[in-house]
Amino acid sequence: EFKENTAIVVFGASGDLAKKKTFPALFGLFREGYLSKTTKIIGYARSKMTDEELRTRLIPFFKTTTEQSKTLVADFLQLVTYVSAPYDQPEGYQKLNSIIEKFDAERNVTESHRLYYLALPPSVFITVASNLKKYAHPGDKGLVRLIVEKPFGRDLKTSRELQRQLAPIWTEEELYRIDHYLGKEMVKNMLPFRFANNFLAACWNNNFVTSVQIAFKEQFGTEGRGGYFDSIGIIRDVMQNHLLQVLTLLLMERPRSADPEAVRDEKVRLLKCIKELDPKKVLLGQYTQSEDGTKPGYLDDATVDPKSKCVTFAAMCLEVDNERWEGVPIILRAGKALNASKVEIRVQFKGTTNGMYSEVSRNELVIRVQPDEAMYLKMNTKVPGIKNETTTTELDLSYKDRYKNFYIPEAYESLIRDCLHGDHSNFVRDDELEVSWKLFTPLLNFVEGDDAPMPLPYAYGSRGPNGLNQYLANNGYVYENHSSYSWPITTPD
Ligand code: BG6
Repeated sequence: EFKENTAIVVFGASGDLAKKKTFPALFGLFREGYLSKTTKIIGYARSKMTDEELRTRLIPFFKTTTEQSKTLVADFLQLVTYVSAPYDQPEGYQKLNSIIEKFDAERNVTESHRLYYLALPPSVFITVASNLKKYAHPGDKGLVRLIVEKPFGRDLKTSRELQRQLAPIWTEEELYRIDHYLGKEMVKNMLPFRFANNFLAACWNNNFVTSVQIAFKEQFGTEGRGGYFDSIGIIRDVMQNHLLQVLTLLLMERPRSADPEAVRDEKVRLLKCIKELDPKKVLLGQYTQSEDGTKPGYLDDATVDPKSKCVTFAAMCLEVDNERWEGVPIILRAGKALNASKVEIRVQFKGTTNGMYSEVSRNELVIRVQPDEAMYLKMNTKVPGIKNETTTTELDLSYKDRYKNFYIPEAYESLIRDCLHGDHSNFVRDDELEVSWKLFTPLLNFVEGDDAPMPLPYAYGSRGPNGLNQYLANNGYVYENHSSYSWPITTPD
């Protein structure tokens, strides 16, 4: 199951990402029995700290549900040590290399396998990548994998520049660009769902589907991170990467095999079919104070430029110009400080246009990515009883009912494990990145340019700007507001 004798080095070990995501994911894998006790984990950062200080910092972020998992924390922490060194000097890397060589020698292993995880800001990214190659690469004596985190540039130009600098140092084979949405259970389920259910193939196209929606909603604003978010915006933060990845898996053709490159080839092919987007047709929003005045508006954040036009909500309609999807609006929508926290895919099917049952609701397939993983298909059936009335109900696959005792891994757990196994399927390839930036750069230039429009206001805790319903309706989505129907565990739409 697991790979033995691997050294995992987490760069940026004292930072937020490492503390909240990387180390907890490593612990989660260990807790569930997917990380070998022969693993060595090294935190690496500039901050001065002892091994013990790092361990103490990490503990509060580990998920321990049972008494037994608490004892596992101590076992796990035994594997963790710390190196404090600058990023731009050889010494730290040389020291790291000798620690790993010693670890290999102690175990008498001839191959030296290493996973370098770069939880680092872009400013030191290339420096670290090139020093690692120079001073801490075992050459042909072992495998090295490098996990890198977004942002992979800010736009097409900067992303190309990053790639230009990285490519001569690390091969595409060694690189694992993380998009953590690809590690989510329901996103990983997309391939089996689509291609292991043959009946779906018949209706998964523009003959039957009238619209597709991928929605990302967060109930909290950018409080505390405003300064960072102000130069990013929601489009770059979650749409160019996370939502586009979901879209690709949802709409792409069947890969010729399960080979990771075959999967990624199909993703790129689909991405290339997306039509250029007209920035003026995108609905843009920025949140203001909540209606009851208890939650701050985006511009109330002291770390944000008071005239900021930063986009905290966007809805856009993409067109996929291929035979399967031509004419089907594909809506991406994402926002901070909304009325709910959830990520959902909605595939709406054509209704019966005339005659019998032309008045019933359209079928709609909903894939709930989070929270509470679920899939349900809105169906029309007869109301049980003597009368002939119809109602809308659902075929319901709620994971928490159907899969009661299953462990659903965190996205980062799943992806780190894939990387340890050398599986690239759920990581972003260079050409995929290129096409996604090509698609989004004109929109980003528009919203960040001198003539950028002021985004529409929406109150913290609302569904989004006022024009949203109309925007969805204009783009083919029929909101079936039947009072008789509500999904049992629904959160507000
Ligand atoms: C990150 C974004 O990539 O994804 C955050 O930078 C966002 O702004 C987060 O909150 C959402 O991830 P998740 O897993 O909580 O849906």
